[in-house]
Parts: sequence; structure tokens; C-alpha cells
Amino acid sequence: MTNLREIYKCNVCGNVVEIVHTGAPALVCCGQPMEKLEGRSEDMGLEKHLPIVQPTEKGIKVTVGSIEHPMEEKHFIQFIEVLTADKVCRVELKPGQKPEASFPVDIAAVLEVREYCNLHGLWKTK
Ligand SMILES: [Fe+2]
Repeated sequence: MTNLREIYKCNVCGNVVEIVHTGAPALVCCGQPMEKLEGRSEDMGLEKHLPIVQPTEKGIKVTVGSIEHPMEEKHFIQFIEVLTADKVCRVELKPGQKPEASFPVDIAAVLEVREYCNLHGLWKTK
């Protein structure tokens, strides 16, 4: 069974999807079950992938990595998401940009912050 806000990837074509309404017992793409991405918080490379959250005057700023993650054509952060009880805020990034984003969200309301690296997958900070 899928759950709201889960992220799935097709390991054949690379499609990445997020559940915005539950329904299907499983997701299939390219004739195969899609892989549910759990969101890592520990592993090799965590210093370049764990989102770091700082309060700002208007909300929060999220930076990817205590060591800044690369933003190259072949290796970059595709999006950063901030989850609260009733909001999912996502900023899409491109190569050449900084691996960071600001969100008009009260830091006290943040449940989870996650980011997706095109090579190393989903990472999260709770
Ligand atoms: Fe990466």
C-alpha cells in the first residue's frame, strides 16, 4: 500500500514520483514494481547530502551538505522538499545553481526536510 508523500523511483527509466493521493497497492513502471525511496540519513557521503536547516527572518533556509554538494550536469541536487503537517514545499534545482533553497515556513512546524540527488538518491533530516 502506498502512503501519502512517499517517493518512488523506476530503476529502468528513472521516473521519480511522489504520492499525493493514496490508492494503488503498488506502483509499476516499465513493467516492474517501482522502488520506494526511504530517504537516508546515514551512509557514505552524508556530509554532502544531509539537508541542513537554518532559521531566517522569513522562514528557513535549507543547504544540502555540511560540505556543499556538487551542482554539475551529471551530478546535482534535483529538488529540496520541506514537509509540515499540512504542506509539502518543493524547490526544483538545476546544475550551476547553489544546492540551497529558502522556504516561508516556521521552523517549529517542520516535520522533515529531504533532498534528491540524481546519483545518490533521497536523503532526509528530521
Ligand atoms: Fe550526490
